[in-house]
Amino acid sequence: MKIVKLELSERSYPIVITKDDFNNLAGRLKQGALGNEAFIISNPIISRLYGQALKTALLAVEIKSNVYNIKDSESSKSIDQYIKTISKISSIDTKKRLFCIALGGGVVGDLTGFVAATYKRGIPYIQVPTTLLAQVDSAIGGKTAIDLASGKNLVGAFFQPKLVYSNVSLLASLPKRQISSGLAEVVKYGMIIDKNLFAFLEKNYQKILKLDKDCLIRIISTASKIKARIVANDEKETKGLRTILNFGHTIGHALETAADYTNLNHGEAISIGMVGACRIAQEIGILESKVTQQLIDLLQKFKLPVKAKKIDLKKVYQAFYRDKKFINGKIRMVVPSRIGHVIVTEDIPFEIIQKIIKRSVN
Ligand SMILES: NC(=O)c1ccc[n+]([C@@H]2O[C@H](COP(=O)([O-])OP(=O)(O)OC[C@H]3O[C@@H](n4cnc5c(N)ncnc54)[C@H](O)[C@@H]3O)[C@@H](O)[C@H]2O)c1
Ligand SMILES: [Zn+2]
Repeated sequence: MKIVKLELSERSYPIVITKDDFNNLAGRLKQGALGNEAFIISNPIISRLYGQALKTALLAVEIKSNVYNIKDSESSKSIDQYIKTISKISSIDTKKRLFCIALGGGVVGDLTGFVAATYKRGIPYIQVPTTLLAQVDSAIGGKTAIDLASGKNLVGAFFQPKLVYSNVSLLASLPKRQISSGLAEVVKYGMIIDKNLFAFLEKNYQKILKLDKDCLIRIISTASKIKARIVANDEKETKGLRTILNFGHTIGHALETAADYTNLNHGEAISIGMVGACRIAQEIGILESKVTQQLIDLLQKFKLPVKAKKIDLKKVYQAFYRDKKFINGKIRMVVPSRIGHVIVTEDIPFEIIQKIIKRSVN
């Protein structure tokens, strides 16, 4: 077991990375005295696999719980689902001290966080992330959100959980494609800030793909440490430090939008976006081509795409223009100068970006 602390003065919290069951979690909840009734938000697949084990562990420390399932889809991050969820909580919230548990991936985590942030102006919640992406990224840092028809994550709040409990054993049931998607974010951490992590991934990719638990604990705790450090120094994304986490996401988001979130998942889009960002860095003369190749080799080992197939180039450009990172005719981009180091620049000519997007598609 590894414990990483996210330091935010009175809002600090531990991120526990473990391969053990839920008993340790229950013990921590008892100690932390968050409340005596848990409202577990999950989805039917995940609650069928892990819901009962969590309930039983909670009951052993005298915490009663209800499981509330939302549909297994990004469409659950909606105003409609938000109202349903909050109404359900209010209907069971009588004299108990209620807290929320997000048992799921980023969809469950983002909705639960927003519900907890807004119900009665904020009630405690914890994250029990069940996807690799959520364990290394979305469960950490307190960004909570739901979507609008006009765009993803447009309604939300910064609201930190009291605990993140990442159990690598839960990843055994995760579809392989989702494992690869999460690995794209882990590769991202290596590229932006940690060359040792990158080297570890290169050396141990087979064990990682076989879900070797000790390897998973190592990469998830390293990723958690990096994200925790960045969030601790720039909690609300006001100082520009959190920006480096967007490496690969500028082109990646445009691809995701153009693909309508169907044939490319988030990690796959980011994989292609990271390669694009490297090529842009090459174009502006700050990166050697062999580094791009090294990144491509690693992504391919993790069964991630480095080119988007069957995607409409025009739609990608359109999505790119609409992206909030496009300011005053210029694009802000995070580009690497070597493995483990990136710079943020606002001066990339659009022609270069167009050329690279074209190379990233079909
Ligand atoms: N808040 C943040 O900082 C942040 C950061 C990145 C992404 N996000 C958000 O996260 C969401 C994506 O999250 P995700 O990639 O975890 O996707 P997800 O939550 O949709 O989960 C992916 C799939 O895996 C299934 N699943 C989850 N855990 C499982 C398990 N242990 N066994 C079997 N199946 C399992 C889910 O049912 C789902 O079908 C997006 O909405 C995105 O906007 C938020
Ligand atoms: Zn991402």
